[in-house]
Amino acid sequence: MDIASRPSTPIENPETADAAVPPKAPAVIRREDYRAPDWFVPEIALDFALDLDATRVRATLEVRRNAQGSGDHTLRLNGDGIAARSVLVDGQVANDWRMDGLDLLIELSGDAHTVEIETLINPAANSQLMGLYASNGMLCTQCEAEGFRRIAFFPDRPDVLSTYKVHMEGDKARFPVLLSNGNCTATGEGTDGKHWAEWHDPWPKPCYLFALVAGELVANHDTFTTAGGRKVDLNIWVRPGDEGRTQHAMDSLIASLKWDEETFGREYDLDLFNIVAVSDFNMGAMENKGLNVFNTRYVLADPETATDADYDAVEGVIGHEYFHNWSGNRVTCRDWFQLSLKEGFTVLRDQLFSADMGSPAVKRIEDVRVLRSAQFPEDSGPLAHPIRPDSYQEISNFYTSTVYNKGAEVIRMMRSMAGPECFRAGTDLYFDRHDGEAATCEDFVKAIEDGTGLDLKQFRQWYSQAGTPQVKVRVDHEGDTATLRITQTVPVTPGQPVKQPMPIPLRVALFDRDSSEHRGEQLIVLDKAEDSFTFPGFARTPVLSINRGFTAPVAIDSDVPTADLVFLAANDDDPFARYEAMQSLVVQHLVAAVGGGMLCDAERQSGRDAIGRALAAILDDATLDDLMRGELMILPSEAYLAEQLAIADPGAIHAEREGLKAWLGRELEDRLAALHDRVSAVSYSRSAEARGARKLKTQALVYLAAGVPDEAAKRAATQYAAADNMTDRQGSLMVLCGLDTPAREEALADFRKRYDGNALVIDKWFSLQAGSLHPRVLDHIKALAQHPDFTLHNPNRVRALYMSAAVNPKAFHSGDGEGYRMIADLILALDPINAQTAARFVPPLGRWRRIEPQRSGMMRAELERIAAAPKLSRDTLEQVTKSLG
Ligand code: TRP
Ligand code: ZN
Repeated sequence: MDIASRPSTPIENPETADAAVPPKAPAVIRREDYRAPDWFVPEIALDFALDLDATRVRATLEVRRNAQGSGDHTLRLNGDGIAARSVLVDGQVANDWRMDGLDLLIELSGDAHTVEIETLINPAANSQLMGLYASNGMLCTQCEAEGFRRIAFFPDRPDVLSTYKVHMEGDKARFPVLLSNGNCTATGEGTDGKHWAEWHDPWPKPCYLFALVAGELVANHDTFTTAGGRKVDLNIWVRPGDEGRTQHAMDSLIASLKWDEETFGREYDLDLFNIVAVSDFNMGAMENKGLNVFNTRYVLADPETATDADYDAVEGVIGHEYFHNWSGNRVTCRDWFQLSLKEGFTVLRDQLFSADMGSPAVKRIEDVRVLRSAQFPEDSGPLAHPIRPDSYQEISNFYTSTVYNKGAEVIRMMRSMAGPECFRAGTDLYFDRHDGEAATCEDFVKAIEDGTGLDLKQFRQWYSQAGTPQVKVRVDHEGDTATLRITQTVPVTPGQPVKQPMPIPLRVALFDRDSSEHRGEQLIVLDKAEDSFTFPGFARTPVLSINRGFTAPVAIDSDVPTADLVFLAANDDDPFARYEAMQSLVVQHLVAAVGGGMLCDAERQSGRDAIGRALAAILDDATLDDLMRGELMILPSEAYLAEQLAIADPGAIHAEREGLKAWLGRELEDRLAALHDRVSAVSYSRSAEARGARKLKTQALVYLAAGVPDEAAKRAATQYAAADNMTDRQGSLMVLCGLDTPAREEALADFRKRYDGNALVIDKWFSLQAGSLHPRVLDHIKALAQHPDFTLHNPNRVRALYMSAAVNPKAFHSGDGEGYRMIADLILALDPINAQTAARFVPPLGRWRRIEPQRSGMMRAELERIAAAPKLSRDTLEQVTKSLG
């Protein structure tokens, strides 16, 4: 084989390659600057000589000039920390190429050429976990969003679609299983203990969907026959020893294939579907065509090691990645500003799937809880952005709760306005119209508009305006008519000083006070800054139930009297609205207690009494199922409470919320103890009843631990010892972790010993201690950081310790600033190892403007300390600069 004329040393360690590039002000990429590519690459052949620390890659690109492009003769191939060992054009050693920063440019004379470039990479040194990397002795790839350029020079943008032929050769003992996208077309033996495999993916795809896995793996195998009669081989690949924990993932996969056929009319399109579980992974999972790569935590589950919540998460993520096969892969994104096109839509699809697999009411409540505790704070802080952002410096920073979860809510609103059947006509048209294309959010909205007949002109604002709309509602009553007076304001966000009103669909019902019933619900759409809606036929002012089912991702300020909230918490027939009434009751009380003026003792008492009565009614209600009862018992999070205040004092919120919990624990002790006894008698199964029982077991302990800690410690220790499943064991250990009792150390030691060597469960051991209510939680975290099992190189372990700490107000907002310092130290230490993960710890510090002055100053000082560090990654630099700006 020819070697390039130009001497170019292979870069052994891609991590140090970036150091050669002089630091520049980070470039801002803008949506409005989008230009179609000058060159397409209809076909690519990749040849890998696999090795843990020196993998040779030869990429052969068939390039075609885009007649609609700029006419530029230069072919720009993106690279990141790689060097070309040889460059050939049409089989000849090329001289007409040069580097431009990290990219490789080639001057081409004609309209069609074959370009062949060889690179050498070191997977073992790849700690960023982007591109080709080693994990537990296996090789795997992560290419979304811009990881492919760390493997080969290529136009790394999602609107360049290619068919892939992959040849890989490697040591047979080290890499017995060789996988890539599509179908395996040939395998064979090589020399020196090597073997090889060839894969072909017939579906054109952008390079971010490329994947390769090589290692010692075993599969749980099954098959599925599609509605069209295609027999699909399904494999879930894991490390030997883990295969006994893959059945739930397989069941979820089969359910996903079936559900997408029935619900969205989408069939699978290859004869093979592989999933591989990897322990070192930056995110949840990745939808590579025909070869999904998963974080082990979203694959492995059995009753002994996984909680009910873990089971649900596996089901949801398996569904999510599978659904991407249509919403993401068959129809992909034109550019990364359109990320919500695939992510928002796919999150909605996985939410609807999980709702159908379990309890729709409980699923809706859980989804809204995630939105409120993660997305609302993002939308009201320095990193707020629309679901379709206008600019970015590092795209990895835009895999956010806004793009994912608010994105899903925006599409859900269109579905609510159209109705599910009509909405399906819209999605059918979208898939039909754009199959095989790289599409935009505008394409999606247009297809929904054309397919449903909705007018979405003004609705498009939801794609361009950031910020959670604030909706104020007042109920007036005159004669026999009730009038809803509603206003909306969309708050100012960075770069968006002026906002337009948006269409806000609100499902409402008005309850008659005498009959405790309403006369049917109605969907009203508020599309002006201010509007009113009249409802005749009420002798007295009705009780308003609004945004039922959470039809719109807005904050409602409805000034509802406490008595009406108690009424709705007990009587509303919409389960979400019932949950909401309970939440509002607590929010109103706690906000009054910590915000505005102090409550006098009598006021505090009457607030607590109302909440106590409502909670007692929930505990006593025989018509409620236990899963739903568990949801109704959960108090609003401190993050959500802080969100209600212009300036929050996290210490006061924590004290007041814990005070309420303790009071409720004491006040309802007998009921809670009786509840704990009742549900403790239910034996383990995966039925909704048994899962509800387990949820309540821990809920009851949580209140008792706050109010009657000695009693709770006894019960928790008993529950821990009797546990025959992880839900009960983790729940009781969580409660013990917050208590100053000898049972705490005993249970922690037992847990540690029992699960030694099981990484996912040891993650729980770290996470429970870092997330605890214990007075010395910060000391515990510092000690855990020195534990031999702690490493900055595994994202799951880093998140288990430090993300648990960052979202634990007791630890993070410690009055002496220790929590802030700890997170800033982590960011600085992690940034050179894994920038993507490091940058995810910046937003908690970025909340400083909304925090009381003393803590605020300390948070800001930590951000400034990070900003002053010499060589920050683009990821962390963008987040820190925006958080200070
Ligand atoms: N597309 C993936 C999903 O949501 C997300 C993802 C996986 C990802 N790995 C990543 C995004 C790495 C950025 C970087 O299903
Ligand atoms: Zn996704």
